[in-house]
Amino acid sequence: MKKYIYLDYAATTPVDPGVKKAMNPYFSTKYGNTSSVHFFGQEARKSLDKSRNMVAKLINANPDEIIFTASATESNNIAIKGLALNLSSFSINDKKNKDKNRIIISSIEHPSVLETVEWLEKKGFNVTKIKVDRNGFLNLKDLEKEIDEKTLLVSLIHASNEIGTIQPINKISDICRRKKTYLHIDSTQALGKIPIDVKEMQVDMISGSSHKIYGPKGVGFLFVRRGTKVSSLFRGGSHEFNLRPSTVNLSGIVGFSKACEILIREMDNENKRIAKLRNKLIKEVLKIKGAYLNGPICYGENDHITKRISNNANFRFSFIEGESLMVNLDLMGFSVSTGSACSSTKLQVSHVLLATGLKHEEAEGSLRISLGRWTTEEEINSFVKTLRILINKLRTNYF
Ligand SMILES: Cc1ncc(COP(=O)(O)O)c(C=O)c1O
Repeated sequence: MKKYIYLDYAATTPVDPGVKKAMNPYFSTKYGNTSSVHFFGQEARKSLDKSRNMVAKLINANPDEIIFTASATESNNIAIKGLALNLSSFSINDKKNKDKNRIIISSIEHPSVLETVEWLEKKGFNVTKIKVDRNGFLNLKDLEKEIDEKTLLVSLIHASNEIGTIQPINKISDICRRKKTYLHIDSTQALGKIPIDVKEMQVDMISGSSHKIYGPKGVGFLFVRRGTKVSSLFRGGSHEFNLRPSTVNLSGIVGFSKACEILIREMDNENKRIAKLRNKLIKEVLKIKGAYLNGPICYGENDHITKRISNNANFRFSFIEGESLMVNLDLMGFSVSTGSACSSTKLQVSHVLLATGLKHEEAEGSLRISLGRWTTEEEINSFVKTLRILINKLRTNYF
């Protein structure tokens, strides 16, 4: 079989062998339902509790603040719609916030946030999108100005899935506290790459996903700070503190918790190694004529935890379409992406790149390369060599 080199870790990651091993017994011997009272049920319940403790530990939360879900998409939906559902027009749960009908997001959100607030907009909510600068950083002055007494929630992407930009969450949470509005962050790409401490960060809700951190697909979590009034979107059971009914996906949750355990041990070193490789990749690719970096420059020692997550690089190439580059790279054995995987089937230009001020044709020429746990220096060297050849060839065809 032809050897493929995977450089799309932002789309999804392979399951770590340690995670797979930890999950195995839950398919064959430890298959009980966590709600059953018998031996098998009790055994399952203990594993669920243990897993919850581990996921909580990764972000310094209390275990009862972790709700297991099926994905970050689901977590984002529960966080945003669940808070909105508490308004008096829907229920009488949240008298304090009953007149609040405004939601603020950024112009570079993942579709799972963007389309959720657009749905609420159709139901009568006011939605405001805060602009970002050329590198994808949110304009904090605009954010502060826009939050008014009607604002219920600010929901922001923590690290961009396309250009890797890390938002200054501590500064943002200060603003939200002062202005007395809820803050939800979508940390799907940030988890495992930036230390997250909810005691320090003072955010109200955080979404994350297992399959981005070498855990299985089909598991996510939502951190809900104690006292945050979120209504359930579902009916039919009392699982997950009444917020997410249905038999819990225990094998997946155990895998997710093992992935968190590995990160607690190895996150620091892993991200330093990956950032070094990524910086080398950027340096080499920028030697190609007409190649530009999208998103922040990140050569400083701690830039991978303050400016741009360790594994992300995003380039544009003049006179070349990202889509044709991606397809040709695939034919030559390199798996990369042109933007977020979720929009790649639609063939539309990235709203994130456009929001950073790129022209349509510039955004069309973009390519996202994302590294991970098993990316090697040889793979990066081989990728750069192939990219150089391909760009020359495609440009020859163009002119
Ligand atoms: C920033 C961000 N949010 C949400 C999601 C959705 O995650 P999931 O696949 O777990 O639904 C993704 C996936 O790419 C993402 O990158």
